Amino acid sequence: MAQLWGGRFTKETDRKVYEFNASISFDKRLIDVDIEGSKAHAMMLGSIGLLSDEEKDQMLNALDEILEDVRSGRSEITLEYEDVHSFVEAKLIEKIGQTGKKLHTGRSRNDQVALDMRLYTRDSIKDMKAGITELLKVLLDIISANTGTVMPGFTHLQKAQPVTLAHHISAYFEMFRRDALRLDDIYDRMNYCPLGAGALAGTTYPLDRDFVSEKLGFYAPTANSMDSVSDRDYLIEYLSALSVIMMHMSRFCEEIIIWNSNEYRFVTIDDSFATGSSIMPQKKNPDIAELIRGKCGRVYGDLMALLVVMKGLPLAYNKDMQEDKESAFDAMDTVSGSIELFTCMMRSMTFNAGIMRESAAKGFTNATDAADYLVRKGVPFRDAHGIIGRIVVYCLNNSKSIEDCSIDELRQISPAFDDDIYEHISLDTCVKKRLTKGAPSPDAMEGYIADARGFIENIRIL
Ligand code: ARG
Repeated sequence: MAQLWGGRFTKETDRKVYEFNASISFDKRLIDVDIEGSKAHAMMLGSIGLLSDEEKDQMLNALDEILEDVRSGRSEITLEYEDVHSFVEAKLIEKIGQTGKKLHTGRSRNDQVALDMRLYTRDSIKDMKAGITELLKVLLDIISANTGTVMPGFTHLQKAQPVTLAHHISAYFEMFRRDALRLDDIYDRMNYCPLGAGALAGTTYPLDRDFVSEKLGFYAPTANSMDSVSDRDYLIEYLSALSVIMMHMSRFCEEIIIWNSNEYRFVTIDDSFATGSSIMPQKKNPDIAELIRGKCGRVYGDLMALLVVMKGLPLAYNKDMQEDKESAFDAMDTVSGSIELFTCMMRSMTFNAGIMRESAAKGFTNATDAADYLVRKGVPFRDAHGIIGRIVVYCLNNSKSIEDCSIDELRQISPAFDDDIYEHISLDTCVKKRLTKGAPSPDAMEGYIADARGFIENIRIL
């Protein structure tokens, strides 16, 4: 049991208390950022004369070595240390003795862990943004290749009106575009340096907080020392953005699962992204899509856990906050893994254009257009709606589509029909006529694609 704070105590910590209190098992992944932060602190202590140049250099070298030792496996972060901060300090003292003991001057583990989590989260936001960008590129490729791929659009999971695959996928492009922008916002709000806040009330040493902030690539130091050690808003915002990303992927996965079913066959998930059954030889299951849908719940849980941890905490630091890590890390791991697999699954999926078109042709998806046709011929819309409704019933009874009816059959229900009806309700016309901005016609989609391409080309790399 290696503890930093033995002096005040006359008894050893109970083993169970020690284990319950320790965070090393999960905060050891902060080793890189802990050392990065410690190096910036050491440089700053040197710059204000609290460390001599030799002491500072010795410390920087030793910190580098500690990281190297861990990376190469020469040194192991074991449960014998309370947390990652204790591990680094113990190793530093092992390496450079008395000088190592000076590193924690003007610093508390409260501002240290606040810094570590910000650095770690900042990196995660950058990676997440890169992952979403890659996904957007793959989606745009599918969109560009499918502006003429007609498929049914659904409401209530019932065929509604014809759209195109490009249009359907670009709805998701919009969701992930907003997700990307949300990450930018969070990054801009969280990129402030808490180091120098001390335990809660700053410090009497003349620390140069601007120096550390600049060294670590932050916009500026945080503005209030008590807030600095107790703010976890940025994690809550981030987990909430991650929850929205998962929700978007989960909805998409739900559609893919439906589209991949034997009944739909709109898509074929690549063999490398599906799994079989141990008993039913014919099965090819969309497990990856299902798992992403399932993991969405888990990320919501992580967000909820953190919200509840924070809700009753008085200022400033409380140990409850140590509970931020497992939820945050779990959400980050889950979402980055899900984005990566989802992107690969999309890239390797086959879209069955013929089947989609056939499906659009079958479900009366042109019924609204048929009603609009009658309106153009002078029939009031409400009457047109009724006429087409009766035609649909007639077609259902005779197992045909509206366009399969002869002009005489149509005229029996309304004399307003002319021969040009067939042209008006063909699937291609139904799609092509939808020209408004944001609508599925290939012409409207051309403008959309140009805009989306511009967005990706100029996307901000965090
Ligand atoms: N492991 C702790 C955490 O994650 C580090 C900060 C400890 N500070 C303290 N006052 N005990 O929050």
